Amino acid sequence: MAGCLIFRSVGAKTVKRKLLLIVLATFVGTASLVVAAVQDGWDIPEDAKAVESPFAADDEVIAEGATLYQRNCRMCHGESGKGDGPATARIKPVPPDITTAEAQDRMSDGEMFYKITVGKRPMREFESKLSEDERWNVVHFLRTLRAG
Ligand code: HEC
Repeated sequence: MAGCLIFRSVGAKTVKRKLLLIVLATFVGTASLVVAAVQDGWDIPEDAKAVESPFAADDEVIAEGATLYQRNCRMCHGESGKGDGPATARIKPVPPDITTAEAQDRMSDGEMFYKITVGKRPMREFESKLSEDERWNVVHFLRTLRAG
């Protein structure tokens, strides 16, 4: 605004228009950067990462998690979680290998739970499909997929 006033007072119309274009270009540029950042990575709140399962893993929990995984996740994440399910022929990006020590150590239980809850294209959200207990069963099962 201050800039506009100065240019009006000296009557430099073209300069004013150029200035406006620069301001607009900067704004659009910044806005698209912000959008790109949000689309690229997961946006996981710190408190969501710290959430812990309300129950411990046991055979029953893991068996239940395995069944839910086979039904809801295997087509993309693959039989053993390597990201090689049959649906990967049609989706982009393909899921990462979640069996590696890197992936398993990078994500807390709370982070896995949050990712399953909210999803990220092409992965759907599971908040409306699986109950909280079911999602925790799946998290406990995912831990059994750790390779090495
Ligand atoms: C339609 C295919 C699809 C289905 C079904 C699906 N996912 Fe995913 N999932 C993905 C893709 C693709 C990504 C990677 C998204 C990204 O980072 O851009 C992903 C990411 C993840 C991640 C994060 C991995 C990481 O290293 O950050 C977890 C955990 C996960 N999925 C678990 C599950 C579970 C559990 C289910 C079933 C309840 C499931 N997904 C169902 C496609 C799918």
